[in-house]
Amino acid sequence: MAYLRNRWYVAGWTSELTEGGGVLARTILEEPIVFFRHGAGIAALRDQCPHRFAPLRLGTVSNGALRCAYHGLAFGADGECVRNPQGPIPKAARVRAYPAHEAYSMIWVWMGAASAADPALIPDFSCISDAPARVRTPGHSKVAAHYELLNDNIMDLSHVDFLHQSSFAQGSLSSVRPQVSTRGEAIRILWSVTDAEPSVINRQHGGGASRFDIDTEVVWHAAGNMRLAVTMRPAGGAPGPVLVIEGCHMMTPETLASTHYFHCGTRNFAVDDAALTAQRAQIARRAFDEEDKPMIEAVQRSMGADTDLLSRQPMLLAGDGGAVRVRRAIKAMVDAEHSQGR
Ligand code: FES
Ligand SMILES: [Fe+2]
Repeated sequence: MAYLRNRWYVAGWTSELTEGGGVLARTILEEPIVFFRHGAGIAALRDQCPHRFAPLRLGTVSNGALRCAYHGLAFGADGECVRNPQGPIPKAARVRAYPAHEAYSMIWVWMGAASAADPALIPDFSCISDAPARVRTPGHSKVAAHYELLNDNIMDLSHVDFLHQSSFAQGSLSSVRPQVSTRGEAIRILWSVTDAEPSVINRQHGGGASRFDIDTEVVWHAAGNMRLAVTMRPAGGAPGPVLVIEGCHMMTPETLASTHYFHCGTRNFAVDDAALTAQRAQIARRAFDEEDKPMIEAVQRSMGADTDLLSRQPMLLAGDGGAVRVRRAIKAMVDAEHSQGR
């Protein structure tokens, strides 16, 4: 399926772009892009000099412009050449500039028509930026699979009970029928369970309670941006702390066959415990790298180069409602872009 263009995509963590004139190079929707800081903002340019096609990521940033390392042409945040060491600036000396924005500790880039790039369309991930830095676990993984398979993985958490038995499994995500709802363009799926045992990773934080009423909610925004919140209350209204574990799971296509997976978790308990943060980050990374990623990549290999799961008419289970609704929404959005000629 074609890419959805007129959306904001996560390109990286703002911490990846240092203040000291560094650059960040990333391929997004098959387009090589280089990011750098200029003034108070972030610039995003095509990572290819129009002179001899040198990657601009090899260049250096000074005075808000990126200077090509090969023959010294310098380009500003709008992609226009601002300096030619060999004389006047040629008309053709410009590169494509992409709208870029810093929000919620992430770098966002707009891959469609620049005139439609409204930062107000960036979905709300203040759960990440509002959380103390010491409880955040930001990460980035590359996965050799189409991004919609990664959307499926978060929208259908019934896999957790089987694939992640030593960490996140709680038994109820596959036995409870989730509720799916739509609000505007956002799609929400909610698993609610009462009087349940928490997952291994959260078990020791219940302040003595051993049974909980647990809501697990995922809210999706196009094309691959999901907020996952687990809220655990002591079962039946018993006294005790309410644990909230939130996270973002952002899938940005690199190509049709590979995906950038940006992820970050936070929590509302033991917020000063840096060792616990490191431990939880390691558990989450191991679960993804050793359990999700090999499975998702195996699914993609099994499907060959196919990116359209629904056209294969897969058999569906009770937990598929959210993932299927997201796939249909993406298809409708892509079709709408193409009928409007983008
Ligand atoms: S390739 Fe960039 S200035 Fe020559
Ligand atoms: Fe998983």
